[in-house]
Parts: sequence; C-alpha cells; structure tokens
Amino acid sequence: MSPFRVTRTLPEDATDAALRADVLTGLTATPKTLPPKWFYDARGSELFEQITELPEYYPTRAEREILRARSGEIAAASGARTLVELGSGSSEKTRLLIDALTALEVYVPVDVSESALTQAGQALIAERPGLSVHALIADFTGRLELPGTPGPRLLAFLGGTIGNLLPAERAAFLASVRGLLTPGDALLLGTDLVKDEGVLVRAYDDAAGVTAEFNKNVLAVVDRELGADFDPGAFDHVALWDAENEWIEMRLRSRVAQTVKVPALDLAVDFAVGEELRTEVSAKFRRDGVTAELAAARLELTNWWTDSQGRFALSLSVAR
Ligand SMILES: C[S@@+](CC[C@H](N)C(=O)[O-])C[C@H]1O[C@@H](n2cnc3c(N)ncnc32)[C@H](O)[C@@H]1O
Repeated sequence: MSPFRVTRTLPEDATDAALRADVLTGLTATPKTLPPKWFYDARGSELFEQITELPEYYPTRAEREILRARSGEIAAASGARTLVELGSGSSEKTRLLIDALTALEVYVPVDVSESALTQAGQALIAERPGLSVHALIADFTGRLELPGTPGPRLLAFLGGTIGNLLPAERAAFLASVRGLLTPGDALLLGTDLVKDEGVLVRAYDDAAGVTAEFNKNVLAVVDRELGADFDPGAFDHVALWDAENEWIEMRLRSRVAQTVKVPALDLAVDFAVGEELRTEVSAKFRRDGVTAELAAARLELTNWWTDSQGRFALSLSVAR
C-alpha cells in the first residue's frame, strides 16, 4: 500500500444531493434545523481547530490529558494493527495513540472534511515513516465501508463528537459501528460529561467569538453551495443548556424578520424576528448512560478513564 491515499466514498454529487436534502428538510421544518456536518468546509475545519485552543473549550485539553496518561494501556489492551478514526479532523490528539500503538501498520482517518484529511494525512506520513495512511472522505452516519486492512482494529471516535447525534441516531450509529468490528477489535469513545451549566455554556459561547463565527459558517456554506442569500450578520449566535435532555444546543437567532432565498432549491424561507435555527446538539454523558448505550449495541465497556477534573471520559469497549 502506498503511504498516503485518499478514497472518496462520498461522490461529489452525493454530497451536493445530501446538502440539498438536509437544507430543504431542515429549513422547512418547525423549528428549523441544519445538521452539524455542514459546518466543516475548509474554513469551518480551521475554525474548529481555533476553538480547540480557546481557554473556555476544555474538552480537547481534557481528552488530550487522558490520552497522554492512558495511551500505553489502550495500546496494550487493543494490540491494534489498524487504527480507524471517525471524524478525525486534524488528528492532532491521535498522534498520542499512534505513537503508543507499537504494532500499528495502517491509520484510516474518516471525515467529511477533505481539507482536514489531506492536511492531517500528509503531515502524518512525513512525521511517521512506515505508517500507511488511508484517508476516507465519508459520512460516518451513512453505511461505512472500511478498506481491508490487518486486524485487530481499534476504532476511535474522539472529541465528544458522538454527542452531536440525537439519541436515536446514536443508537443506529453504535449498531453500525458494532457491525464494523469483529471479536478482538475495540472501540475507543470520547464523551464529554455532564457538569456545571456555566462551564458548559461558556465552552460553546467564547468571549473571542470564534464559536459564533464557526456557527455562522454553516450559512456561508449554504450561500456558496446553493446560491442562498443568508446574511450571517443578520443572525446571533446562541448557546444554551437543555437540562432535561442534558445537551447543549447551538442556534442562530434571526435579528430581524427576513426572507432568505435558496435558488438551487427554488425555496424562500421566512424567519420571524427572534426565530431560531438549531445547528448543533452536543449531548453530555454520564457513565451509566454510556455503558447502557454501548451494551444496547452489543459492546461491552471494559475501561473508563476521566481527566483529573472529571470533565471528560474516554471509554474502551469490546465487541461481544
Ligand atoms: C467536533 S470535531 C472533532 C475533531 C477531532 N476528532 C477532535 O477530537 O478534535 C468533528 C469532526 O467530525 C467531522 N464530521 C462531522 N460530522 C461528520 C459526519 N457525519 N461524517 C464524517 N465526519 C464528520 C468534522 O469534519 C470534524 O472533523
């Protein structure tokens, strides 16, 4: 295998069709919604990397702390020859795992962001001679087909990204992840934990306004791809804690009454003043809930590690 290869399992026109379908469904629904995967064009991926460095955004630092402390144990438990990572982004924290996995031959980062995959993949093969990187441009909520690489496999899903799926979507996702694993393979899952509301809200509404810019980037994507005339300046960024569902919601609130045109869909969308468009849910977890959701997908939790402040958890589970 050549050291770096990128496979697109999402044809360009499929991405376009999926965006059209999501925008049509989401902007004609009540309340209006858009799925978070559309944040991540090249600009959105760059903004997410800036978010990970913000003082308020603790999840990346907390997860990195756990990986620093536990990568050796994770490597010993999994003995992986292939590391698959869903929603890999910059693969920055993953380097800790890659370095610990002494038997590792192939790294398979999977992401919708082609720019993030290309940058991360090229950097990794330059830094780690001997490692093959087979990047997949794919939607992890769809039917994933992984390349035939040597087992055992460790499948990592870091960053708390699983919290962006709604409960029913999470159940379907975990069942399909289980379908990718054979006995001896393992899942490494990063989950952000329920904590003080102020800490949570500040993590999604930083003082520098980077998360606000990231949130509004989805409007720029719809403008560029579908010829829409969203004015990002006509919306306010909103982050709120839903205590009942134990998730953070990011929304865009219309500052004025306005009609947005989406010519590619022959659609005109009315926003009342103050009307909100939900752009992301970020669920926060407790150990019991994670264990039960994994068990429902026939995955048995074998290890649970948190950072020193108990803010974030990494769990290892095995296919049963
Ligand atoms: C919250 S970021 C986390 C990035 C990285 N794993 C980390 O921990 O810093 C989510 C990542 O998942 C990717 N992503 C979001 N939705 C996706 C989907 N449906 N399929 C594949 N990748 C997706 C984004 O492009 C982004 O790189």
